[in-house]
Amino acid sequence: MLTREENELLCRVGPDAPMGRMLRRYWIPAALSAELEAGGAPRRTRLLGEDLVAFRASDGTVGVLDENCPHRGASLVLARNEECGLRCLYHGWKIAPNGTVLETPPEPEEHRFHEKVRARACSVYEDGGIVFAYLGPPGTEPPRMHFDWMSLPVDHCMVTKAQEDCNWAQTLEGVIDSAHSNVLHANQIRPAPGQVTTSRDDMGQTRRPSADGAPRIEAENMPYGFRYAAIRKPLTDGDKLDYVRVTLFIAPFWAFFPGPQGWTYMQAFVPVDDTHTMFHFMQIRHEGPIDAEMRAAREKRSAMQMGLDLDAEYRKSRTRANNWLQDRAAMRAGSFTGIEGVNNEDIAMQESMGAIYDRRKEHLGTSDVAVIRMRRIMLDGVRKFTDGAPPVGLAEPVAYETLHAEERMIPKGTDWRAILVP
Ligand code: FES
Repeated sequence: MLTREENELLCRVGPDAPMGRMLRRYWIPAALSAELEAGGAPRRTRLLGEDLVAFRASDGTVGVLDENCPHRGASLVLARNEECGLRCLYHGWKIAPNGTVLETPPEPEEHRFHEKVRARACSVYEDGGIVFAYLGPPGTEPPRMHFDWMSLPVDHCMVTKAQEDCNWAQTLEGVIDSAHSNVLHANQIRPAPGQVTTSRDDMGQTRRPSADGAPRIEAENMPYGFRYAAIRKPLTDGDKLDYVRVTLFIAPFWAFFPGPQGWTYMQAFVPVDDTHTMFHFMQIRHEGPIDAEMRAAREKRSAMQMGLDLDAEYRKSRTRANNWLQDRAAMRAGSFTGIEGVNNEDIAMQESMGAIYDRRKEHLGTSDVAVIRMRRIMLDGVRKFTDGAPPVGLAEPVAYETLHAEERMIPKGTDWRAILVP
């Protein structure tokens, strides 16, 4: 459990909150590259309680600006995307991706007014099909995050996004909570004897070499955050082997977890504001591109189809108001949750706790070790940051491209830390 003060410290992300100030010192996914067409419609993006607009100018340059025009605040989401900048509809000010005001048509030319004003613009870069923005003070940007999958052609990766109606920390806690997978996802993740790693069968069902519902959780702090192992008894050779799945928590809201063979799975839980989070699920196929058919099949199976399960702003059709479309008839027919898709099962649990769960009420057990570790690291880190220390995970250079989640059978009793990748 956390005290009320600790819970507030962990969850609040606005510009005046300590955690909000620390989160502004990281690169944050602001949009997908594919969402921004050169010269096309700007997109609203809300990060850490701030309303921003992302766009790609006609020359391909990406900008992330305050949504409000620097003149009198009209929304730049409505602006015309003209050559080299956005033109506000209200009085025609034109603003470049870097925040330079290029034109202020109603002002006398001799006043050179446009040279005296700037729009607030974030530092940005693109990698792996993601537009990253930096909301901290200019000149304090940390090294760019470049994971190894970002070097693959962009069509090897599909990103699913969905806005969750709850705080970022309780969404992040879902991915560092291995113990729930045997229960919540019992229909989607089935035990399979004789294999040594996770696989997906022809129907897209995930199969794991263990049915052990009470994994032993062990965690280890790392420069980037921490890694933890969920250690289970395998279905085959359980007296000789441990089945170990290692998940990485990369500050402030990223996680690698082992996917099926040939795939990398990564998730990010980007705080939209105190009570909303943009869930990102990166699925990367190493053997080749993810074609349209494969992509559609994955989105259908996970019930994350645009236009059906999600609208154009990634708002879900499954919400608290409709009990996440839980199907009791399907439960009577064998579904454990009655909720379609692994991600939707997770989201339903996270949102069902409320917008910001009061962690004074909870009762944590040994399976919650990684969740406790994340909270401790982030709470200790934000207190130290407030006293002048670097943000969590940024005190020393991190070779992000070397980080991997991993699962493996290891001789029973062997220390996983000694043989699995850092
Ligand atoms: S409010 Fe944008 S130009 Fe006036």
